[in-house]
Amino acid sequence: MKKLLSVLLLIQFIACLSVSAQQAREAILLNNGWKFAYGHAGDMKKDFTHGTEYFTYFAKAKSFNQNQGPSSEQFNDSTWQTVNLPHDWVVDLPFSKEASHSHGYKTVGWKYPETSVGWYRRKFYIPEKDLGKHISVRFDGIFRNAQVFCNGFYLGHEPSGYATQVYDLTEYLNYGGENLLTVRVDASTEEGWYYEGAGIYRDVWLDKMSQVHVAPFGTFVATHIDPSYKTADVNIEVCLANKGLEAAGCKVVNRILDATGKEVVRTQESSTTLASKQEEVKLLQSATMDNIHLWDLEHPYLYTLYTDVYVGEKLVDTYTTSFGIRNIEFNPQKGFLLNGCPVKLKGTNLHQDHAGVGTGIPDRLWKYRIEKMKSMGSNAIRTSHNPVSPAMLDLCDRMGMLVIEENRLMGINKEHVDLLERMIKRDRNHPCIILWSIGNEEWALEGNERGLRITQSMSEYVHQLDSTRLTTQGTAGGRVSLFGVDVKGYNYLRQNPIDEYHREHPDWYAPVGSEETSGCGTRNVYYTDSLRGWMAPINRTAEDDNRIVNAMARGWQFYHERPWLAGLFYWTGLDYRGEPNPMLYPATGSQFGIFDYCGFPKDEAFYLKSWWTDESVLHLSPHWNLSGHEGDSIRVWAYSNCDEVELFVNGKNLGRKPMPADGYIEWKTVYRPGALMAKGYKGGKKIMVEKIETTGKAARILMEPYNTTLKADGQDIAIVDLTLKDEKNREVPDAMNEMTVTLTGPATILGYGNGDPGFKETERPVNGEKTFRIKAFAGKAQVIIRSLEGQKGTVQLEVSGTGLKKATQQFITD
Ligand code: GAL
Repeated sequence: MKKLLSVLLLIQFIACLSVSAQQAREAILLNNGWKFAYGHAGDMKKDFTHGTEYFTYFAKAKSFNQNQGPSSEQFNDSTWQTVNLPHDWVVDLPFSKEASHSHGYKTVGWKYPETSVGWYRRKFYIPEKDLGKHISVRFDGIFRNAQVFCNGFYLGHEPSGYATQVYDLTEYLNYGGENLLTVRVDASTEEGWYYEGAGIYRDVWLDKMSQVHVAPFGTFVATHIDPSYKTADVNIEVCLANKGLEAAGCKVVNRILDATGKEVVRTQESSTTLASKQEEVKLLQSATMDNIHLWDLEHPYLYTLYTDVYVGEKLVDTYTTSFGIRNIEFNPQKGFLLNGCPVKLKGTNLHQDHAGVGTGIPDRLWKYRIEKMKSMGSNAIRTSHNPVSPAMLDLCDRMGMLVIEENRLMGINKEHVDLLERMIKRDRNHPCIILWSIGNEEWALEGNERGLRITQSMSEYVHQLDSTRLTTQGTAGGRVSLFGVDVKGYNYLRQNPIDEYHREHPDWYAPVGSEETSGCGTRNVYYTDSLRGWMAPINRTAEDDNRIVNAMARGWQFYHERPWLAGLFYWTGLDYRGEPNPMLYPATGSQFGIFDYCGFPKDEAFYLKSWWTDESVLHLSPHWNLSGHEGDSIRVWAYSNCDEVELFVNGKNLGRKPMPADGYIEWKTVYRPGALMAKGYKGGKKIMVEKIETTGKAARILMEPYNTTLKADGQDIAIVDLTLKDEKNREVPDAMNEMTVTLTGPATILGYGNGDPGFKETERPVNGEKTFRIKAFAGKAQVIIRSLEGQKGTVQLEVSGTGLKKATQQFITD
């Protein structure tokens, strides 16, 4: 009995310890229930009089009595819109021919002062018992030029639209009372040359911890694998901070748990004394791990590091760091090696932009987007041209996707180096990251010595911050500054003499094709229609010496044939708004994507799937609904990994042809409605048949949900793909029907899109309406619904349209 009692007491004691550690550090997601309104970029009166008072927030720590603007607690925001983050307000703005081409002709930017400043307010409660803790707010990304206030006090500002920003709230809070965060966002100036959205478009966290704690992003785990690949040395750097008024003697123990939660390493404790208000005290610990599980693309195995901080005997902080153990090498002869094995980088460039939500991409949507890339065998993403959200990198870690993370601003002054440092410190524990890209196509730097000096300096700053990874940069053909980075990044083989460089520098780390043209156009469109913003695939139209050049195939063949090249990153994996090059308004979105901006594949996705996966593929293009083009000469293409393909056009055999390595097959014919049929052979045996027919008009809607259960947290989403089919259940590839979406139950319509690069529709109901008109483009549309916080139940989505058999789908929010 006595024994049982002491065991119980021990369990209770351990539970207390872990509870107190958890209580000492809490990360509370602050995404729901923000108030939002437009301010004004050119008229302070219309900007809620912000900054017009006698003593402004700059004159005094807090403007006293006079400030009635949004940073003040007295301000009445009852007429403001209630929004949940992530939020990109540009999604709701109309388009204009006069607006920025690069940003998708949306009415934001310096020409539109009334819609370029957004204000956010969020009240939150802090209990009295939190007095004595260190409390901060962490914004993972605000586009852009954010000013942040707490209870009317100015906390600071951050010009970057891509950096995580942390503000100390501790001294400003009302303990046992209500508190207010106010953020003014100003998107008047563009930071990139592509759609960037505007607003608090990533997560916001309230972090509570002890005064003595691991500093934000204060751990760095570097592993060195033994040549046997059985054991690894782990070097752990911990950066401590003491925000209190007293000095503190503390000790640190690091524990590593495997993916099952079993402790596999516990380090010797190290002690140090932190002076009051002392930050950035570094402690180094190391350990050896046996029987290691490697992180690779098939088994992205993750360990968790628990960093325990004690003051005296009291556990005051436990900070967790997820990491993986893997070896990466850019070998001059063998290309990129992951854990010693050559892995060709089959990559795409991605911007952060999706139909219906813009840059405010919920986590599940990122997962959906990464899965689309994986579905065609892609294994790498370049985060062009900015740091991404931590949530996206967590997904890449878990899903086995390699990443080149790219810095936004090139330069060597405090602001530049600080941004570079913040990206690296935040993200250097992600096993998915294989390279740091310091910049992209800097025309003022690439061809001259000044550029080289800047590039070398930035590269060296990176080496100081992370000795485990190399640097790169996307180069547009300049021959000087590329010498400043480790791994040369070539943007387009037509711009860079890659073979010549290799002959001259066979010892260079295996270079990457940081951008290579996908040659795509508008999904399912084969005739350019500039009045609608649609473009036939460049692969089918661009001629070189009077020959059609399939640029996508040319790119892959080039990189595949050369083992000393690490691999390539197509421009781009998914369409994004802005840069509808070479089109102009009314085109509003880019067409470079291998998938459109909803994630629907274009023909070229099947070219890559043929050569990037082991799945048998046989895909024909164009579709056979080319109405109005009867009698036109047509090139029928088969994207396939069969050895031979035989084509029948309207019953007539056009011949059986061998498939060239990494190639595709073409037959010339004349378009008449009917059917295309192809037989694919492997080893002389017919293994698959593909048939596409001229269809009837759309008669029914196929609704395909990506998921049917959602967490009732106001954050989780369901992605629903809609496909129009005819009476005979055949996909109608050119259907453009209008439809009505009706939602019942506890959820909201977050947005919709259809992949049309000339898209100009309203993307979501602004006031939470449950019925919404949408339009299909080339047979498809996509609706995204979001749960409501704390509201569990059954949700029903009904989609109907004139002449269409309606479709319904139920979802459970739990
Ligand atoms: C590249 C650039 C990309 C994109 C692309 C469009 O030069 O790096 O960001 O603008 O051109 O073709």
